Amino acid sequence: MELTQDLRDMLEGKYGEGAALALKVQIGVGECFNAPGMAPITNAHVALSNQEMDLWFAEKMVNLGARVKVSPTVNPGFCLSYFKRRHMVTDEEAEHMGRVHEAYKTLGCRLTYNCTPYMDTNIPFPNEIVAFSESSATPYVNSVWGARSNRESAQSALCAAITGVVPVYGLLLDENRKGDVLVEVKAKIDSDFSYNLLGYMGKKIGPGIPVFVGLPGHISPEAHRNLGAELNTSGAYAMYHIVGVTPEAPTLEAAFGGKKPKRAVVITDEDFKRVLATEISDPGNREIDFALFGCPHTSTKEVQYIAKALEGKKLAVPLWIMTSALTKSNVEKMGLLDVLRAAGGEVVEDTCSDQPCWRLYKGKVGVTDSPKCAYYPRKRGLEFVVRDLDTCLRAALEGAVQ
Ligand code: F3S
Repeated sequence: MELTQDLRDMLEGKYGEGAALALKVQIGVGECFNAPGMAPITNAHVALSNQEMDLWFAEKMVNLGARVKVSPTVNPGFCLSYFKRRHMVTDEEAEHMGRVHEAYKTLGCRLTYNCTPYMDTNIPFPNEIVAFSESSATPYVNSVWGARSNRESAQSALCAAITGVVPVYGLLLDENRKGDVLVEVKAKIDSDFSYNLLGYMGKKIGPGIPVFVGLPGHISPEAHRNLGAELNTSGAYAMYHIVGVTPEAPTLEAAFGGKKPKRAVVITDEDFKRVLATEISDPGNREIDFALFGCPHTSTKEVQYIAKALEGKKLAVPLWIMTSALTKSNVEKMGLLDVLRAAGGEVVEDTCSDQPCWRLYKGKVGVTDSPKCAYYPRKRGLEFVVRDLDTCLRAALEGAVQ
């Protein structure tokens, strides 16, 4: 791999052992994909997970003296002050989260603790080369903003933030950004929730870059967020094309780069019903114990919608909304936090659904509008009935779901 003199100096330790190790990791990745060299990045997002291995790597970098050259935004763990104060995490778990915080702070990261930075705090320009990890983030920056990122891991994105470069391969190159699979959507698409189900079609769509046709003219930012998150829960996708939306897909021909699709797939209402019943959701028709929203993190618009639906009412079960500190502060200023709290709901910042703070719902059943929210916490013993947002809100008010 060809390296500039500056990168050769970095590899030899001129900028410290941490930067040298980060670059070594990236050279390893690059060599796997025959990358000819490295390209500078201008933005990054690290999918910090508050898990053992993630902390091990971040602390290793800290101990080797690494500091970020391009300060990345980071994913949520859990809000330490909130859950510690309420005794919802053990001392050991609180200490772990505290160490994660210290490590990423020392590295120089932007401690946004949010999994949807592409909606407000970290928005790249078209063709900007970036290093984004996190399931919904990579497809969003490639497919909606037209930036260029491979499907980074938390660790490779952190290495990129430290070195300021990424190996040139995959989606950084024009020829690898063309569509492979024509996905004709015949299923009814009538809400942002429909995109959760569409994204969960990864197994049917199969490998490659999907090109969706048959979608409505306007697709909300939340719908794109849902589509990307679920494509990476049911499969592995760093990019999709929607004609007229994805900057590189003004026409169907451009989306496929003038070539024929390798496959064509049709998505129907029957597909949606089947995955919802067999792969995503508990069958329902039962009492529920809680409601959880915000996987990925909710937008201000969504909190507004939920607050309006709950205004003046009393919830039968606890209702939690996970979001960024920025959105929480917005909705607090808007008076929505008071409305939600009066109904019995709560908004928590910096928190992910796949964290030990939700232990209190082990063995219980909740409602959520997110298949991803149902998928990951299952290993922690939480079960979910997945329904559209209105049905979930009705269920939280009544304490039971159809
Ligand atoms: Fe975000 Fe955690 Fe869900 S990072 S997408 S809340 S699993």
